[in-house]
Amino acid sequence: MSAHQKTADSPFVRACRSEPVPHTPVWFMRQAGRSLPEYLKVREGVPMLESCTRPDLITEITLQPVRRHHVDAAIYFSDIVVPLRAIGIDLDIKPGVGPVVAEPLRTRADLSRLRPLEPGDVPYVTEAVGMLTDELGETPLIGFAGAPFTLASYLIEGGPSRTYERTKAMMYGEPELWADLTDRLADMTVAFLKVQIEAGASAVQLFDSWAGALAPADYRRYVMPASAKVFDAVAGYGVPRIHFGVGTGELLGLMGEAGADVVGVDWRVPLDEAARRVGPGKALQGNLDPTVLFAPTAAVEVKAQEVLDAAAAAGTGHVFNLGHGVMPSTDPDALTRLVEFVHKASAV
Ligand code: CP3
Repeated sequence: MSAHQKTADSPFVRACRSEPVPHTPVWFMRQAGRSLPEYLKVREGVPMLESCTRPDLITEITLQPVRRHHVDAAIYFSDIVVPLRAIGIDLDIKPGVGPVVAEPLRTRADLSRLRPLEPGDVPYVTEAVGMLTDELGETPLIGFAGAPFTLASYLIEGGPSRTYERTKAMMYGEPELWADLTDRLADMTVAFLKVQIEAGASAVQLFDSWAGALAPADYRRYVMPASAKVFDAVAGYGVPRIHFGVGTGELLGLMGEAGADVVGVDWRVPLDEAARRVGPGKALQGNLDPTVLFAPTAAVEVKAQEVLDAAAAAGTGHVFNLGHGVMPSTDPDALTRLVEFVHKASAV
């Protein structure tokens, strides 16, 4: 049986399709990583990007939160900049900072540095996904990629930004260059997601983490075409496609329209209101504020119940998650307790 067949009836995949589930499935963005002592141990002395090219480490780190928290899905351990590095862009992930690009892309001549991605550029992905799906059995593996806008922001700014000033300068000032850049990034992202799905990933999530910096009209005009190209190109596989960004309350409808089956929601918009914005026929993922996990257990459970109640009022498929990634200083036991609570509170 293929990995896709083995996971087709899992609570996670069923919730993504808005089918009835025995309990609300849970996973956490950034569940693999610095909140776990066992992660810090295996990463000791290994730079982040090197760890993303070693199938043994990828497999171990991806499985750690599944073993510990009993989450309903694994997310493939990698980073959104891995495919860029695989096609030869000189970049690094600096601890405490994020991705840093040695020579930012700013001109038309720079576009030639974005060559197409071939499966042979990322043999470790195929190998690690194969190892993972063997180990995971009926637990789905989520593959992922960065969306063209978020990737472009790192490439153009050269690193993290709060204002995206150079990115927006290109978008508004050189719209043709911007369109060509995001189109190339879309092609790279399609190729990268296909490698993951063909190796056995049961779902994919497109992270447009920083799209919330845009007004809806600009999102529609400058960002949606490239993201829609990505979703469209992987539609034929039939695996659920999740679309996530932070601060995207005003964009939720458009992010669904881009082609997602599941729209990720941060903690600023309750899920019943999110469902109205997204419209019928799509499931929702989210949306507990990650900082709630620093409160006492009873308070966490009150807030988690509010998420479940809003999801029930939304009346659509629901995958429980945080509204953004797990913060590194989160107590791992608080995450384990939260999974247990959601499973119990939602059991039918
Ligand atoms: O979710 C998971 O558990 C899977 C792993 C994963 C990582 N990055 C590992 C990582 C995923 C899904 C990502 C996606 C990612 N990377 C996004 C989109 C998700 C989001 O948070 O909105 C973005 C914007 C990036 C870029 C990036 N990489 C940032 C902002 C950082 C943090 C920098 C820091 O040190 O604070 C990284 C580094 C990174 N990616 C780490 C991990 C585990 C930490 C590196 C380390 O452990 O040294």
